[in-house]
Amino acid sequence: MKKWNQLLLASFSALMLTLPATAHVVEAQSEKEAENAVKNRQALFTLIRDNMGPLGAMAKGKIPYDTQIMEANSLRLQQFGDMIHHYLSVDTRKFDVQSDAKAVLWEDFSEVEKKANDLKVAAKNLSDVVATGDESQYRKAIGQLGSTCKACHDDYKKD
Ligand code: HEC
Repeated sequence: MKKWNQLLLASFSALMLTLPATAHVVEAQSEKEAENAVKNRQALFTLIRDNMGPLGAMAKGKIPYDTQIMEANSLRLQQFGDMIHHYLSVDTRKFDVQSDAKAVLWEDFSEVEKKANDLKVAAKNLSDVVATGDESQYRKAIGQLGSTCKACHDDYKKD
């Protein structure tokens, strides 16, 4: 009996490791809390853009590929990607805030988490591609990363 419990626990832990991190939607309780939530998520996306910018410029041939920047920024984008579900999980719909988030964002949050995870996976792929040093693959990997921004914005961000 004890053995079974341990086995169950072990397989449960293994399962938890393979699932993307999940956050529960929480409603902002006051206007101030809602405003802070908007400020924080916009700050996160500002940092995300700042790290994506040079990568996009490299893929477009506007600046030369710099593997040190690619390495650093793709790692940061993985880490920022890890924070997205947390910073988007505060439902601010009840308050009149200056936000570009669409109301549907909090209706099926598991979809949002999936899209945030896609960004992480694409950023990790770029790190892996840079580690191989195969320059012919950089453009494609950056393009895939950029398309994860668009995929989420198309559904959840007002233009
Ligand atoms: C999982 C969804 C999701 C992903 C992935 C995502 N975004 Fe966003 N982004 C949003 C939402 C929602 C907003 C609107 C936030 C608000 O105004 O409350 C936003 C806002 C922004 C903003 C405006 C911030 C501001 O100050 O108002 C920028 C810039 C941005 N995103 C860049 C990016 C880039 C670059 C990527 C990809 C590397 C990306 N985003 C990936 C959902 C996403």
